[in-house]
Amino acid sequence: MNILMLGAPGSGKGSQAELIENDYGLLQISTGELLRKAVSEKSAEGIRADVYISKGELVPDELVLKLLTERLNDPDCNKGVILDGFPRNVFQAELLDGILEKYRKKIDIVFNIESPFEILKERLLARRMCAKCGKGYNMISNPPKSVYCECGGEIIRRSDDNEATIKNRLDVYLISTKPLINYYEKKEVLVNIDGNRKIPEIYQDVKVTIKKKGY
Ligand code: AP5
Repeated sequence: MNILMLGAPGSGKGSQAELIENDYGLLQISTGELLRKAVSEKSAEGIRADVYISKGELVPDELVLKLLTERLNDPDCNKGVILDGFPRNVFQAELLDGILEKYRKKIDIVFNIESPFEILKERLLARRMCAKCGKGYNMISNPPKSVYCECGGEIIRRSDDNEATIKNRLDVYLISTKPLINYYEKKEVLVNIDGNRKIPEIYQDVKVTIKKKGY
């Protein structure tokens, strides 16, 4: 089974993908994570990507595609993947169709998680993470007990979780990514999910859908 998570920044794609990964043994592939890793390693791709990420712009398609195809070639992807953050525009969706065809695979379910933008802004401004182990926190829904994580790492804010960049990320979503709803609706794999609820409630719907599809 291969799943795709669609939704605006902060809609909960990553949070739901993590839960699916744990329960169904699929591999979560977040292009945002792949890019942030490249940035932290200061690779040539990372240095290039950083300019776009910090402004909330989409990183050039060919750069994201290089990182993604490298990751998809790893043997652990054979059991099925949850794509989180890819595709981000129709061009990337068409490229993905080509890649999947080559491997005789398909996307079985596209979860489209929707919430009002005001809520998304609040969530993103409140998001924190551990610089050492990557554990996620949220100052509203899941605050850390101190300025340090349980592992001893410092708790930080993602560099693109600031007002100006969040605004641009949401604008970019509307222009480039939202058309994918129609793209996947036509392929009859789209499932709309009300994301303006608690994480476990949303996940219940996700699980029911997966079961209905026979997995
Ligand atoms: P990426 O890392 O993909 O960021 P994003 O799309 O902006 O998504 P987020 O990770 O911010 O949100 P999410 O929907 O995963 O929500 P989450 O579960 O984390 O991309 C970053 C950048 O990389 C892009 O801007 C772009 O520059 C580049 N990039 C990435 N992919 C690309 C591509 N394919 N092409 C080109 N460029 C690309 O939740 C957010 C917070 O809310 C958390 O604190 C969480 O705990 C909380 N939360 C989640 N759900 C709920 C809920 N139901 N109730 C309360 N709180 C919740």
